[in-house]
Amino acid sequence: PEEAPVQDLSSCSLEELAGLIRRCSACPLGSLRKNAVPGEGSSKPEVMLIGEAPGGQEDESGKTFVGAAGKYLDKWLDAVHLSRDRNVFIANVIKCRPPGNRDPEESEMKSCFPYLLAQIELLKPRAILCLGRFAGRKITGMETSLRNMREKVHSFKDIPVIVTYHPSAVLRNPELRRPVWDDLRRLSGLIG
Ligand code: URA
Repeated sequence: PEEAPVQDLSSCSLEELAGLIRRCSACPLGSLRKNAVPGEGSSKPEVMLIGEAPGGQEDESGKTFVGAAGKYLDKWLDAVHLSRDRNVFIANVIKCRPPGNRDPEESEMKSCFPYLLAQIELLKPRAILCLGRFAGRKITGMETSLRNMREKVHSFKDIPVIVTYHPSAVLRNPELRRPVWDDLRRLSGLIG
């Protein structure tokens, strides 16, 4: 059940990938979700945002970052003149909601990663912004705290990567607003 999808995803369109994700049963989350959440946004994004996993509202709607964290994330995007429809694509490390919003398990992230990889290779964003430690670790390969992944521009497949706090964490802890602002400014600098 933890096998990665067998199809060759590299020749899929964005819509085909979304279809495969919606029907995916490669890990046990496939039978626990209501809706898989492939991600959405511009098909020619300046920036690809990578969150952690769908929450309750995302599971209900099949859309990414539609809950409180998503509303807050929209303010971040606004502040750096980015928008979901125009120049951003948002996806998650795993496409199905873990029960009770628990942390994603290593096996789930491993099983789901080919989809994220195919999305990145297809979209070829000019920069990637990882939201939270799960996205940060998966994309940078660093098994470390979020604090250690910040303040540095990483690279994934030659695409510059910035890691910042997850909007849910910032909603819980307003002290993180300032470092997030610094990260967003750094991101802005990358895409000019
Ligand atoms: N949190 C995430 O990481 N992703 C979502 O889609 C929603 C909340």
